[in-house]
Amino acid sequence: MTLDIFSVVGGKEATGGTAYDSINPSRVDEVVARVHLADAGAFAAACRTAAAAQAEWARVPAPVRGRVIASVGRLVEANAEALARLVTREIGKPYAEALGEVREIVDTCDFFLGEGRRLYGQTVPSEMPDKSLFTFRVPVGVAAVVTAGNFPVAVPSWYLVPALLCGNAVVWKPAEYAAASAHALYRLLAAAGLPDGVLNLVLADGGQTFAGLETALEEGTVHKVGFTGSSGVGRRIGELCGRHLQSPCLELGGKNPMVVMPDADLDLAVEGALFAGFGTAGQRCTSLGTVIVHESVHDEFLARYTAAVAGAEIGDPAGEVLCGPLLDHRFAERYEEYLGWIEPHHTVVSGPVGRITPENPRGGFTGSGGLYYHPVVVDGVRAGDRLFLEETFGPIVGVTSFGTLEEAIALANRPGYGLSSSIYTTDPKAAFRFRAGIGAGMVSVNNSTSGAEAHLPFGGNGKSGNGSRQSGVWVLDQFTRWQAMNWDYSGRLQKAQMDVAEIVPDLDFRL
Ligand code: UN1
Repeated sequence: MTLDIFSVVGGKEATGGTAYDSINPSRVDEVVARVHLADAGAFAAACRTAAAAQAEWARVPAPVRGRVIASVGRLVEANAEALARLVTREIGKPYAEALGEVREIVDTCDFFLGEGRRLYGQTVPSEMPDKSLFTFRVPVGVAAVVTAGNFPVAVPSWYLVPALLCGNAVVWKPAEYAAASAHALYRLLAAAGLPDGVLNLVLADGGQTFAGLETALEEGTVHKVGFTGSSGVGRRIGELCGRHLQSPCLELGGKNPMVVMPDADLDLAVEGALFAGFGTAGQRCTSLGTVIVHESVHDEFLARYTAAVAGAEIGDPAGEVLCGPLLDHRFAERYEEYLGWIEPHHTVVSGPVGRITPENPRGGFTGSGGLYYHPVVVDGVRAGDRLFLEETFGPIVGVTSFGTLEEAIALANRPGYGLSSSIYTTDPKAAFRFRAGIGAGMVSVNNSTSGAEAHLPFGGNGKSGNGSRQSGVWVLDQFTRWQAMNWDYSGRLQKAQMDVAEIVPDLDFRL
């Protein structure tokens, strides 16, 4: 069944637009949704609609907004299987992972429904009598949220849920190739009772969105941009926002390292590297980039890792597989470019590379008309290689070796990203030294680089972001601004720093 989906602005479905087919990547001939793409003008108009609806929404008491978020959580929970099935069908995410992704929305709602009853400000002592100081969290206004399709519903919820809870209106532009999943989540949010115009869904391509965003920023109808996607586009969004004196919330790529120390539990490290490298077909921003393994255990690790990869199940994402297809044609094409970065000094230890087809099968699996690719492990990667330095979104993992922990940390930091990282060791000193030395926003000890929990700060440094953090209480600083209030009830003008009582100490006093 093919869905026909349109943008929804001010509670009304848009008409017209350029048609785009969102396909099922495990059967590329199947169209999941015909998506009607809006243009830059429609994006800017949606921002005006959101701006008009925002003040009223901000007047709804925060605990009541929290109850709306509670309803979103319940609705998502009650529709979990249907939503996960749609995610699996539209982007090929294995069903168990898709269910986990849906769970992440519920977790996010569970966290923020209570925040509606906190959203604390402070009372602060004044330096003068009969005067009180306060701080308030104030919504920013309208958040324009542009999201990727590898987590088509969970990662958007990291923006939408706190932004709405804080009293903002939102214009959400999801990835076109994951538009049906986004549209379904939009409907669940709308069913929770959000007033028209508070959340708007705009289906558009990247170019039109950027142009529309530029207009909206000029018109003053967008006050915060949230963006999840590539470092290249993130840089452009950062520049655009900078011109308007805004700092966006950026969640960008990663080249996430995993260090395997000589004292590591190797089977545990292999299990972690298998999921981190090939779960979600290597298409998480937190996916494993390079295993940096101590020279004394390199051969043993590699032998076990190669065996584990050879035994991993790849196939129909509706079944119990580690790895389904790539997200969409454009990701498959880009991934094939990354395979071109394999150089003569590298050794591919995993077997065949490239698309799985009847001519290039994986055992008995011939790819069945989907965007399936062989998982690739490349040994002998060097610090100057493209394969080492740049993100390779897809099922490919590099392996290199090191001598000392200092060398491992330097290698781990070298690509200049800084999203996630991991170390396998049984030595607490090594774990804490790694934590202190690594430039990543997230550090795992004896765990995969992927799979962050929904209530810790999520985000990166360097090419992975501008230091903004999502999730937990930390994201509140993205969607609110602090307002400081002072109230003088002394009945006279008390001048700060000047009219302050002085208590004179005897600083020459000695015992
Ligand atoms: C992403 O790929 O954009 O930590 C997010 C993880 C998931 C989120 C990934 N919870 O791997």
